[in-house]
Amino acid sequence: MELNLHINDKHLLIVDDNATNIMLMQALIEEDGYENIHRASSAIEAYEILDKTSIDMILMDILMPEIDGLEATQAIKSNKKFRNIPIVMVTATDDDSLLKKSFEFGAIDFIRKPINQIELLARLKTILVSQEKDNLLMQHSRFDAMEEIIGMLAHQWRQPLGIISAIIGTLLTQRELNILNEHELDDSLKKIADHTNTLSGMISTFREFFKADSPPTINSPNKAVYELERLMSETLKQHKIKLVLELGELPSVSYVQNLLVQVLSNIVSNSKEAFEKNSIDDPKIVIRTFIQKHKTNIVIEDNAGGINKDTINNVFEPYFTTKQERNGKGLGLFISKSIIMQQFNGNIYVNSKGNKSEFLISF
Ligand SMILES: Nc1ncnc2c1ncn2[C@@H]1O[C@H](COP(=O)(O)OP(=O)(O)OP(=O)(O)O)[C@@H](O)[C@H]1O
Ligand SMILES: [Mg+2]
Repeated sequence: MELNLHINDKHLLIVDDNATNIMLMQALIEEDGYENIHRASSAIEAYEILDKTSIDMILMDILMPEIDGLEATQAIKSNKKFRNIPIVMVTATDDDSLLKKSFEFGAIDFIRKPINQIELLARLKTILVSQEKDNLLMQHSRFDAMEEIIGMLAHQWRQPLGIISAIIGTLLTQRELNILNEHELDDSLKKIADHTNTLSGMISTFREFFKADSPPTINSPNKAVYELERLMSETLKQHKIKLVLELGELPSVSYVQNLLVQVLSNIVSNSKEAFEKNSIDDPKIVIRTFIQKHKTNIVIEDNAGGINKDTINNVFEPYFTTKQERNGKGLGLFISKSIIMQQFNGNIYVNSKGNKSEFLISF
């Protein structure tokens, strides 16, 4: 695909102590349609312009009195704000050691005086086009990441939202039939409040995960399992899924609880979906925790039919899903694995025998 990149409106800065040189270069560049040329006759002037204007590229004369082009390049490149601006050295000298130094300081290219117009314009174009492409790519990957986050959030929101609307539906019917008692009303309102909390917790989880700076707390990882039980008990009950906890004593560790809950909930949701798909009669999920070789282990086991050999090696791959018909994104386990690896310094493993699947989280 041919990209339509606008580079003529880029802001270029020419730094040269010789006014004639600047004028000449500016004329050559403007002839090609560039509209925003800035001029500095010294490094100090260049710094001032950089501070005031957003510059996309610098043409830097090497030999200047006081602060020369090398020193200026080094100063600009060591400033966080300006580090990414490409600098092309302009040189009349035959001294290649100066050029070599300028590359060490971060210059991207060079051009010799007397200036050849075709060469100058070709350099400018190559650098500006590649810069523009990088910008577009960055933008796209940010969009992709955002789309993923929003997709997951929507996916995880659907469940509590469904429950809230089911509870409200029941309340309305009970009132119509005049069988709504106060105790039941209290109970239902409490549940709705709980689920609303879950929803807002999920938003924080995602924001925290992508900001990755939410403060960890020191707790037993079992706390995350209890939290999961609290969050999912309603859905599991609705689907007649039995949840059995066999939690061993675990030492407290420092971790972000929401993230572990998110991982557990991804795994349990998969079990739930497998129960439905395979119409299992006595659906059961067992969560076991124990210490082995100084590591915390959490095992989540289901009897939802097992995972076949072709599938099992791919379950942690991004976008791998066997749930096309229900719009599975194939991200649940991928995200879970990256959380456990990045935030917990651990790993997740999968195993399947007969009608059982088992996920082991170890950190
Ligand atoms: N407990 C399980 N039993 C059977 N198959 C499973 C189980 N857990 C995972 N899988 C398989 O692994 C695949 C990948 O799971 P993952 O959670 O990453 O994606 P997904 O559930 O398909 O989609 P998403 O979670 O993004 O909605 C699933 O499509 C399914 O085939
Ligand atoms: Mg999933």
